[in-house]
Amino acid sequence: MQGRRAASQVHGRKAILSGMDILSASQFDRKRVEHVLDVANDMRLLVNNRGASSELAGKVMVSLFLEPSTRTASSFSAAMYRLGGSVLTVNEATSSAKKGETFEDTLRVLENYADVIVIRHPQIGAAKRAADLVSIPVLNAGDGAGEHPTQALMDCFCMRTLKGRLDGITMTVVGDLKFGRTIHSLAVLLANFENVKINFVSTAGLRLPDEVKAAIKGRVKYTESLMPQLAEKIAEADVLYATRIQQERFASVEEYLAEKGSFCISTKFLDDAGAKKDLAVLHPLPRVDEIAPSFDADPRATYFKQVRYGVLTRMALIAEVLRS
Ligand code: NCD
Repeated sequence: MQGRRAASQVHGRKAILSGMDILSASQFDRKRVEHVLDVANDMRLLVNNRGASSELAGKVMVSLFLEPSTRTASSFSAAMYRLGGSVLTVNEATSSAKKGETFEDTLRVLENYADVIVIRHPQIGAAKRAADLVSIPVLNAGDGAGEHPTQALMDCFCMRTLKGRLDGITMTVVGDLKFGRTIHSLAVLLANFENVKINFVSTAGLRLPDEVKAAIKGRVKYTESLMPQLAEKIAEADVLYATRIQQERFASVEEYLAEKGSFCISTKFLDDAGAKKDLAVLHPLPRVDEIAPSFDADPRATYFKQVRYGVLTRMALIAEVLRS
């Protein structure tokens, strides 16, 4: 309680997500998105000024990752440590799933050890299943080809900080729009803002799912194009969001190889396409071959800076759901 009081004195902002599960971008209206980004900005100031806080001292977060992760798992852990809390890590290698334990039983056990649980799982809807079962807040860190709401919130934080706004943003998204869960969540979050335009560009086989289109229809102006039209969708963009072809979601290696290498962002490609000088190129990472390594030195390359916004946004989300 002392920690919580101290935090609210520092930030003067009342929590609006107390005790909530963070499962889907559809839970976020404009007010909630803006609130999370404002709290993430509080966290930015906190980290810049003091490095860390003791707000969540004594609190425990379980990090249950049943699919590979470098960034998301580390960034959630870094966020919890910066808030003074502790982390219990359970992953594919250490989980009793290997011994045949069900996901449900694992959850029923782990909820007794912690105050909040972060879950990554290969199946769509797994985080929701977990939330229906346990009594502590569940944060969805990616459910198969479903959603990745915390990544989308950090992407919004990154864009709002760099561009000064989300209203009026034009974003071109290229890559695996079918299986790429980050974009499913990001499109829905951006639909809360005014005059947003999104150009979706993919191969015929990796188009945006109909459910996502239905969720944003009438709220966002959007276009859909095939890969050869990518260059035509660059000039008007404020943000170019590239995604990896999600190899692990394909039924066979052959199907993946047929999609691999369908585009590559480089300085020459963007210059020839008339990209804005202040275009921000985002990517949730890991990158495979979608962006040439030589592009990393281009001032428009924003993907490594984007990572930093992730820790701050996750600090905001963990603190929010645990604040009273
Ligand atoms: C993304 C994911 O896991 O969906 N990565 C991440 O969380 N930063 C994107 C990806 O794996 O391609």
